[in-house]
Amino acid sequence: MPKSPRRMKIGINMVQNGAHNSGWRHPDANAGIANDFKGYARIIQKAEAQKLDFMFLADGAAVRIPHKDAEELSRHGHIDRFEPLTLLAAMSAVTEHIGLICTASTTYNEPYALARKFASLDHISGGRAGWNVVTGWSEEEALNFSRDALMEHSERYERANEFFDVVTGLWNSWDDDAFVRDKEEGRYFRPEGMHLLNHKGPHYQVRGPLNLERSPQGHPVIAQAGGSGPGRDLGARIADIIYTGQKDKAIAQEFYADMKARVAAAGRDPDAVMIMPGMMPIIGATEAEAQAKLDELKALVHPAVGLQLISKMFGDLSGYDPDALMPLPLPDSNGVKSAIEQWERRLAKTPMTIRQVYEEISISSGHNVCCGTVEQIADVMQDWFETGACDGWNLMAPYMPGGAEEYLDLLVPELRRRGLAQSEYSGDTLRARLGLESRPNPLSGKDGAGSVSDEPIAMSH
Ligand SMILES: Cc1cc2nc3c(=O)[nH]c(=O)nc-3n(C[C@H](O)[C@H](O)[C@H](O)COP(=O)(O)O)c2cc1C
Repeated sequence: MPKSPRRMKIGINMVQNGAHNSGWRHPDANAGIANDFKGYARIIQKAEAQKLDFMFLADGAAVRIPHKDAEELSRHGHIDRFEPLTLLAAMSAVTEHIGLICTASTTYNEPYALARKFASLDHISGGRAGWNVVTGWSEEEALNFSRDALMEHSERYERANEFFDVVTGLWNSWDDDAFVRDKEEGRYFRPEGMHLLNHKGPHYQVRGPLNLERSPQGHPVIAQAGGSGPGRDLGARIADIIYTGQKDKAIAQEFYADMKARVAAAGRDPDAVMIMPGMMPIIGATEAEAQAKLDELKALVHPAVGLQLISKMFGDLSGYDPDALMPLPLPDSNGVKSAIEQWERRLAKTPMTIRQVYEEISISSGHNVCCGTVEQIADVMQDWFETGACDGWNLMAPYMPGGAEEYLDLLVPELRRRGLAQSEYSGDTLRARLGLESRPNPLSGKDGAGSVSDEPIAMSH
């Protein structure tokens, strides 16, 4: 069968208070939105009216900003956030079609508990749930989960692989039609429709079954965003959506080609996995107006926040005047070496003040910022989409709600006019609406898997 024309997928990445670390200070920002359910609900309803594919909530189970004391932390806006599965369950009651995807870590959860939560969200939302699988990156989360330090990278990914297999195994605990609930016969479910997992692995022991009927999608949509080799391999094996964050088209094309090759090497259809970079549009009626908006946003960064933010990468610069040129060579630090080298090369060519550097890093948490008129931004989005750099976009706002309202009101309709974005929802579940392969239960019809024995049964990926 010929494939239908490729369409741009669009998600809204709802970072609390906006993705700009100082967006909460914008004159039009609702600075309390992180604690305002109705505020969130109005945005998601607007996103649904514009037929966005999904809402995504990133997460970490900690205040993840390293800090000496409360004084230092007190100027940061990215502090408070709702537990995302709880928020998405509530969101499902005020929307009908839009996908509901959130992060949950494989390092700080148990697979049974998480399989149950996402299956519940899938039932409650009528098949709209998605899980962004992360292993966590912050020391601060480790300190909240009875550990002294972040678990080593390779161990985190080893556990993530096993964790994921247990979760998906549990999602296949029941045939779709196992629950007959026959009052006459007095039989609640067909015994042959139950499948015990009996998993015994290096990190987890889980018998099953899940205490919940198989959900509408069976297998909620899976997102993943690991950038390292093991992270990319995990994504290639398990993900339907890959979140990423390149700023440069050539680097994005390299990543896109690498990920699609890894997906093919994992024995999957590369077209069935969507690469979706994050992007923050800053829209103006003219280019100059957009630039003025960007400058206004940059000026919101308090020097204490800016200096603290870049200290991770450039070392302690608190003794310097923010308006002095960034000193070169950069002080020795324990930051990400490749990023430091890139900055050193750039600053050697074009000197910048310390303030200019932290303003640039603050604005979008490292993601692409696209500043211009609606047409200019849509041109960039279309160009990346049509030249092998992405399959869609995960849109971010610098502040809430105005930053998101602006791109929902102006940019998304322009993408629709160009025939790139969808104008109606089609399909019964998020998986179907995204054009992803359905995931029937591979254990359906297999006998003998329901006995409480020690024999492990085949697991599906
Ligand atoms: C768009 C995007 C969203 C992400 N969301 C989260 C998140 O919600 N929680 C989290 O702990 N990590 C998140 N990450 C970080 C990744 O899961 C991962 O740790 C990071 O990309 C580094 O990859 P690596 O550990 O494979 O090197 C996100 C990354 C990207 C690009």
